[in-house]
Amino acid sequence: MCGITARVGDDDSLEALLGSLENLEYRGYDSAGIAMQNGSELAISKCEGEVSDLRSELAFTGQNGRVGIGHTRWSTHGPPTDENAHPHTGCHGRVAVVHNGIIENYAELREELRTRGHEFTSDTDTEVIPHLVEEELGAGRDAETAFRRAIDRLEGSYAIAMIVDDDPTIYATRNGSPLVVGVGETANYLASDVPAFLEFTDRVVYLEDDDVVAVTVDGHRITDATGDPISRSIETVDWDPEDAEKGSYDHYMLKEIHEQPMALRQTLHGRIDDDDVVLEEFPSGTFDDVSRVQLVACGTSYHAGMYGEWLLSNWGIDADTHIASEYAAYPAPVDENTLVIGVTQSGETADTLEALASARRRGARTLALTNVIGSTAARTCDDALFIRAGPEIGVAATKTFSSQVASLVLLGERLVRDVTGEPTEDHRQRLDALESLPEHVEMVTQDTLATAISRRWLGESGHFFIGRGNAYSVALEGALKFKEITYEHAEGFAAGELKHGPLALVTPETPVFAVGTGEHRNRLESNINEIQTRGAPVIAIAPRNATELADTADEFLPVPATHPDLVAILANVQLQLIAYHAADEMDRSIDKPRNLAKSVTVE
Ligand code: F6R
Repeated sequence: MCGITARVGDDDSLEALLGSLENLEYRGYDSAGIAMQNGSELAISKCEGEVSDLRSELAFTGQNGRVGIGHTRWSTHGPPTDENAHPHTGCHGRVAVVHNGIIENYAELREELRTRGHEFTSDTDTEVIPHLVEEELGAGRDAETAFRRAIDRLEGSYAIAMIVDDDPTIYATRNGSPLVVGVGETANYLASDVPAFLEFTDRVVYLEDDDVVAVTVDGHRITDATGDPISRSIETVDWDPEDAEKGSYDHYMLKEIHEQPMALRQTLHGRIDDDDVVLEEFPSGTFDDVSRVQLVACGTSYHAGMYGEWLLSNWGIDADTHIASEYAAYPAPVDENTLVIGVTQSGETADTLEALASARRRGARTLALTNVIGSTAARTCDDALFIRAGPEIGVAATKTFSSQVASLVLLGERLVRDVTGEPTEDHRQRLDALESLPEHVEMVTQDTLATAISRRWLGESGHFFIGRGNAYSVALEGALKFKEITYEHAEGFAAGELKHGPLALVTPETPVFAVGTGEHRNRLESNINEIQTRGAPVIAIAPRNATELADTADEFLPVPATHPDLVAILANVQLQLIAYHAADEMDRSIDKPRNLAKSVTVE
């Protein structure tokens, strides 16, 4: 993971770099650092902790300059300490490097450099890079050649930015980790992700693997691995800078929960026409040849994938969901009629990219369902469908889950029509309900019951979440959200599975959140009775008209009654609010939960 950023301007860069790092903290927040160049030498400040700690440290140094690089870290090699924080430099302090990714052959390189007298001050894999570059500079090579020769030695995945003491240029490259150039008027930028510099420019160039870019105040020049010039187009991103800011909310997560109606309107905009689905990227007939669908994803996106699988299977399409990290190692059989859909908010999750690559190598067709235009998944898959949820900064995914599922409903309808020649049976009602979804989510976010419920039902020894059908994926998602931001034990189950083991854990100290979609009400009711018999309180989250559930459960949290295929999306918003308010009550680090990062670019 980690976030890297860089700026070269005709004015001082420090403040902009610190702001960029704050916008990238969702990628990691173990330690942070900045290196500035003042025309003849480098000054480096770095420390364990968050960017706010670095900001306080820098307030005393007066360090500044026109050219700078910055880093916010999620540790992979070496604990989060001042020494392991980036930027890293070589023995002579001539070079500063920030890196996102993993250098797989760092141990051999470190050993080799040691035998030539280099001394290392950190445990990181990154530190070999500035030492290699300094050797090349010492041999009389110019900075760009030295950079190229150093990266030629690296194996692994990386996005790297480098500055040297006497050259007002930032050199950078990528291989498997994201890197974007921001093209400004009086300054140019580089970063792992667009929100880093969105307040300064919306004009971006997405770099490809092995591109080497040299960025100066006057522009940027891209070359391939052999040094030949390459032209990459400048694209304009249509994200509003305010989308990437917290506004009046206490946390990004709460802001993003409340943004869901707007995000869904964007997701659906122009994609439903009366009783037809209009996906510009996928005209009618696009999926005629598809005989099987596999969804690969991680975490929250995996739960959205499960929801999609449930819809597709219900509509007669052969579909399975796979945990991407497992699929990458133990791939399921595919052929040229298999469509493998990578569900990934960031489009940069290493496990998902590897699963997609494995499917592609074996001849399957791949499709990225992602939020990020220009992401690796979007660029490397055969097709991409963008969920258009806007930037999500909180580490816990919220609005992107709703937009992923809504997109899967649309994509599923397209697939069914292409494969079977007929629309789904009740498509008219479902599409109507989908159009009303933003309004229904708004009704949920305006409801304040979740705050009181989260306080009343905080368990002493665990929290269980159950559901049937598509509500099973939401039970898993509700538990994931709860555990990742409260640090309390939470587990999701298929409602019918409790009696096959987990019921042994159920006591009066373990509240159970039961998600109902309005279908199979009797079955869920029996499961609730089984739980209550063991003394556990049950909080039912179900459509307002599920009166028998309201009567049976100890607490009832209603959601608008809509098409049963979509109810669980609304229930999920209630569960997001419950997790948020429980974590807030416990004073947890909601936007940056311990040990986690938003974009997991390591396998
Ligand atoms: C949990 C969460 C993670 C991500 C997972 C996949 O709230 O955000 O579980 O869903 O790391 O990330 P993407 O969707 O970017 O591939």
